[in-house]
Parts: sequence; structure tokens; C-alpha cells
Amino acid sequence: MKSSEIRDRYIKYFKDRGHVEIPSESLLPENDSTTLFTGSGMQSLLSYLLGERHPAGHRIVNLQKCFRAEDINDIGDNRHTTYFEMMGNWSFGDYFKKEQLTWYFEFLTDIIGLDPNKLFVTVFSGDTKYGLPRDSESADIWKSLFEKKSVNSKIVLIGTENGNEVGMQNGRIFYYDSKNNWWSRTGIPENMPVGEPGGPDSELFYKSENIHTEAFGEFCHVNCDCGSYIEIGNSVFLEYKKEPSDTFSKLSQKNVDFGGGFERLTAVSENLNDIFLIDIFSSVIRYMENLSGKKYSDTNFTKSFRIIADHIRASVHLIKDGVTPGNKLQGYILR
Ligand code: SER
Repeated sequence: MKSSEIRDRYIKYFKDRGHVEIPSESLLPENDSTTLFTGSGMQSLLSYLLGERHPAGHRIVNLQKCFRAEDINDIGDNRHTTYFEMMGNWSFGDYFKKEQLTWYFEFLTDIIGLDPNKLFVTVFSGDTKYGLPRDSESADIWKSLFEKKSVNSKIVLIGTENGNEVGMQNGRIFYYDSKNNWWSRTGIPENMPVGEPGGPDSELFYKSENIHTEAFGEFCHVNCDCGSYIEIGNSVFLEYKKEPSDTFSKLSQKNVDFGGGFERLTAVSENLNDIFLIDIFSSVIRYMENLSGKKYSDTNFTKSFRIIADHIRASVHLIKDGVTPGNKLQGYILR
């Protein structure tokens, strides 16, 4: 599917379910001195997640331009870019886990046509130190969604909870601890400053054709760095706030903060295991092939093609949003 088709279908699907579309904010955050760039859809929506009323209502949908300088060393693999568009649907104290997971699954399988046998999900296994409960509600919702499609839906406790990662054990739904399945702007509960909102999340992965090698560990699993499993979306259930006594309280409302990888979904909609093969990148890669006389498909050069294509695209968007090359702040990153 073309990227424009994915965009249109996503916006329409959520508009049909009562969401109002809002435009993307700039890559340069307004009134936020904590970060140089907009790196997720929730940054500009923070006050509404904390209870202020959004002028468009309780349900909104958007595609937010994002730039993540912190991912720069990952560029060159099959799925990372510094610049990307994040598909976002939002519930500000309105719907919660059941609607979010059901709609997202229906959107992927019935509207985009992904094979549910290639989808795998993770949920939060809980955190005893902070008394944050296991998200068995999301696991049960996923289980019934997969069962309705007659897909094996075994739930497995896996990952870093006991300090080591193991194989997939024919599972479909995996419990992981806060290192993988807790979301806040500052990461795990320990790292959150007082007042910071956070919550358990549920990530969804598409099993691509990439072949796992032992260089990435003995067993492949959804969070493996080999790239066989491509994370395409993350539903955050933002309902907690860090308190001064190193504890957590509930926010005044339960929120959904969904972030989906637009370029990644476009790739997997065509069963591609490489986001640089989608229409968004085809003209710049063809142009580089003509200039250099090298082929993207030549594995000696694929990584270089990806880095240049990503950095050119990111630079264009940064310049468009007002950054000029310089020796400090955003300008330094662009330079
Ligand atoms: N805030 C979450 C993320 O950035 C989901 O939108 O992944």
C-alpha cells in the first residue's frame, strides 16, 4: 500500500470513531525547554493528558512529525530513522484499553489487511517495587482478539523480569517488565521526576522475513535487535503520576496515548522488511544510485544509502521548520 493510502485510511478510521483530526506540531517544541526536538506525539499534548480540556474534545487523531537525535547510531538498519511521522490517536479521559486495542487490531487486520498470524504483542508484567500491577487486562483483551481470528494466542512471561531473555516458546502475547513496557518521557519508573506522568504500554510487532543470526543472541524474540520483529505501534495507558515519596498516584483521568510508526506500517503493509524500500524513499535512493553508480541492493552499500537517505530527509524537514546549521542547540544537530 502507498504511504498516502495508509495515512488516509488511518485518519478516516479514527474520525469514523469520533476523533477530530489535528495538524502536526513543529519539530521545534513550543514552550518546552526540556528537549530540543519534538520526538513523540504526546509532547505537545501533555497538558490535555493531565486534565486540561482540549478544544477539539476528548478524542483526537494526528500524524506528528518527529525527530529523534538519540537514535542516530541505529540508522542504517532496516527500521530506524531520525525523522519519522508518528501516527497518533488519543483519548483524554475517554475510552481506554478495550476500545484502543480492539480498534488498533481491527485497523491493522481488516483495514490494512495485515496477516494476524504475523502480529505479536507485549504487555507490562508489573513492578513490585512501586506497586504497579501487571496488565492482565490488556493480555486478556489481546487473547480474545487473536482467538476471534483463530490465531494461536498463548500468553508467555518473558524478557528481563528474571534478568535474561529467552526464546519465544510459541507465544503470541508476552509480559515484559518496565524496561520494555512502561512509558514515560524519561523512561522507567526510577528515572521519572516528581509530577511526571507515565503508564504501562502494549507494543505490537510484525514478524518480517529478516533472518536471526547468533550475533544477536542464541534466541530470537520480539525485542531482539536483529530486526526480525518490527515494532509498528505502541499503546500507552497513561494513568499514573510520580509522587514525591517515590510512589505513584493515579492521574485525574485515564488516557490513551497511541504512537504508530507510519513508515514502518507502510513497509509491512507490503510485507517488506526494510522501510527504505517504501515510496517515501524511492526517489532519493534512485537519485543516489544514478549519482554514485552503485546499487542500493548491493549489501556493501545498503547501510550507507540508508544513512544518507535518512539524514537528507531529516535535514529537509528541520530546515523547513526553521532550523539553520549552526554551532549550538538544534542548529548544531542539523550541521
Ligand atoms: N508516547 C509513546 C511513544 O512515543 C506512544 O505515542 O512511543
